[in-house]
Amino acid sequence: MRSHYCGQLGEALIGQTVTLCGWADVARNLGGICFIDLRDHEGIVQVVAEPDNATAYASAARVGYEDCLKVTGVVRARHSVNDRLKTGRIEVVAERIEILNKAETLPFYLHETPGEDVRLKYRYLDLRRPEMQRMLRTRVALVRALRRHLDAAGFQDIETPILTKATPEGARDYLVPSRVHPGEFFALPQSPQLFKQLLMMAGFDRYYQIARCFRDEDLRADRQPEFTQLDMEFAFVTEQDIQGFVEEMIRSVLKEVAGIELANPFPRMTYAEAMRLYGSDKPDLRIAWTFTDIAELVKGCEFKVFTDWANHAEGRVVALRVPGGVALSRKQIDDYGAYCAKYGAKGLAWMKVESRAGGRAGIASPIAKFLSDATLEAVLDAAQAADGDLLFFGAGPYKTVCDFMGALRLKAAKDLGQVENAWKPLWVTDFPMFEWDEEAQRYVALHHPFTAPKIDDIAELAANARIAVSRGYDMVLNGNEIGGGSVRIHSSAMQAKVFELLGIGPEEAEAKFGFLLEALRYGAPPHGGIAFGIDRIAALVAGTESIRDVIAFPKTASAQCLLTSAPSPIDDGQLAELHVQVRPAAKG
Ligand code: AMO
Ligand code: AMP
Repeated sequence: MRSHYCGQLGEALIGQTVTLCGWADVARNLGGICFIDLRDHEGIVQVVAEPDNATAYASAARVGYEDCLKVTGVVRARHSVNDRLKTGRIEVVAERIEILNKAETLPFYLHETPGEDVRLKYRYLDLRRPEMQRMLRTRVALVRALRRHLDAAGFQDIETPILTKATPEGARDYLVPSRVHPGEFFALPQSPQLFKQLLMMAGFDRYYQIARCFRDEDLRADRQPEFTQLDMEFAFVTEQDIQGFVEEMIRSVLKEVAGIELANPFPRMTYAEAMRLYGSDKPDLRIAWTFTDIAELVKGCEFKVFTDWANHAEGRVVALRVPGGVALSRKQIDDYGAYCAKYGAKGLAWMKVESRAGGRAGIASPIAKFLSDATLEAVLDAAQAADGDLLFFGAGPYKTVCDFMGALRLKAAKDLGQVENAWKPLWVTDFPMFEWDEEAQRYVALHHPFTAPKIDDIAELAANARIAVSRGYDMVLNGNEIGGGSVRIHSSAMQAKVFELLGIGPEEAEAKFGFLLEALRYGAPPHGGIAFGIDRIAALVAGTESIRDVIAFPKTASAQCLLTSAPSPIDDGQLAELHVQVRPAAKG
């Protein structure tokens, strides 16, 4: 139908006849001459219809916004060059304009960004916008480069089932009722975890898959109910082998796709260190600020909140130094307090350092009066406070303090423009094997239950479960967890013990994971792997905050597709066939 793409036309084609197809991005009839900006997926070119070609001119005069067109014409140099367009030095003089399909009035004007609900309902129109085209193509380029890298390195791209059994990754399952087995359900995979391990036991050595995963969990800007992983597994490897390979892959692919230069090697940090310095297991290293633990210094002070937590075995008291923070108003400080409350803070103490030479008089703070001169100086010294700084203080249970002070660090640094414009990757390692779940009164796996502990000995692990460290690792980029993996358990006995420590009894373990426990008994090789969040990496590379921008047809924050209105009720006949009875939702 066409000879060229609009965006590919240039001066080299001057004098030639071309046929183009696309949409009328702009159609202007200046009475006497018509201009159409014709857009296709390569770009935009100006089409001119002049009255000396009466048919072309008449057609052009009928063209409306976003009509779908086929244009044949001659390329010529433009009088007034438009530097904002790649094709701005030329234009196409129309000889024939065919309106392939008229467009009714669109629900929104594509040159503007309407609310996301409208964009998602009319996603096919939203995706016509060049910015959306750019972001999705970035994703395409990313996936292509990753595949090329892995194919060249001898990885086997193998598909795994979508209709399967629950794979525990910490979220709820999406379930599919079986018609032929009344009352039984498939689960959609939260990840291909067990199948990729089985592929290693099957002797495939190196596997990858661009795998769709399904998780029914609370959604955020960086989470979707279905998302895509680059899922990988290797046999006969240590964590160093895996990390070395994938670090090099990410470095070279991001360079190829977006010219991004990442450190070589990536810095490494243990989970404990990350929590201590940044209050997060995915620290954003573009922000220089770190926490200072001050529990030892304030143990004997007169501020009860501090002393309570400083003397509590599970407590934490930290200071966060905000350079230049004295400029913050009372209202801004209160707003940060309210922000921290969302993350569990019971309060947010602060101290403005107006003049350190001025001693106590140089400090403005609602809590300074509770600290002796010596304690005040010791706290300021420990936090390396300088004139003009503001210190925020958090006290409470260790995890809560990490959560709210970690969130505060990110927010305040962003507000104050103290996030470096750079790419900061790192490895986070040495995660705890288990986390104690107060509510359920049992351990839960911090990664997943197939992650190997650093301790090889089963009895020793059982005796030290609370402090056991796993062979898991995460790759973090600019404060985003872009990938996570581990060396796996390859001994059936160890796997059974880990299930037991997780409160999964022998019968339940047999029913849910009997196939795995058995497979591990037939000479399973040592193996391990990792999965990367393709959506998250694509969003970072494309420069957007939301992974929805790099997913063609994403779901809303309440897990709906506004375009197709899914999920939706199904009729009684279909329900009966599936042996499913719907209980009316509880009102609430
Ligand atoms: P994990 O659960 O850490 O590991 O997932 C791997 C990576 O997938 C991305 N991710 C998500 N992206 C978008 N929406 C979501 N809801 C979502 N959940 C996770 C993250 C994350 O780092 N089977 C293991 C991997 C392994 O051990 O090899 C797993 O799934 O970027
Ligand atoms: P109060 O004595 O409760 O008025 O608190 C005095 C100051 O300490 C206020 O600025 C509170 O925001 C702050 N504060 C109270 N609880 C905490 C806490 N758990 N961590 C940090 N600061 C707190």
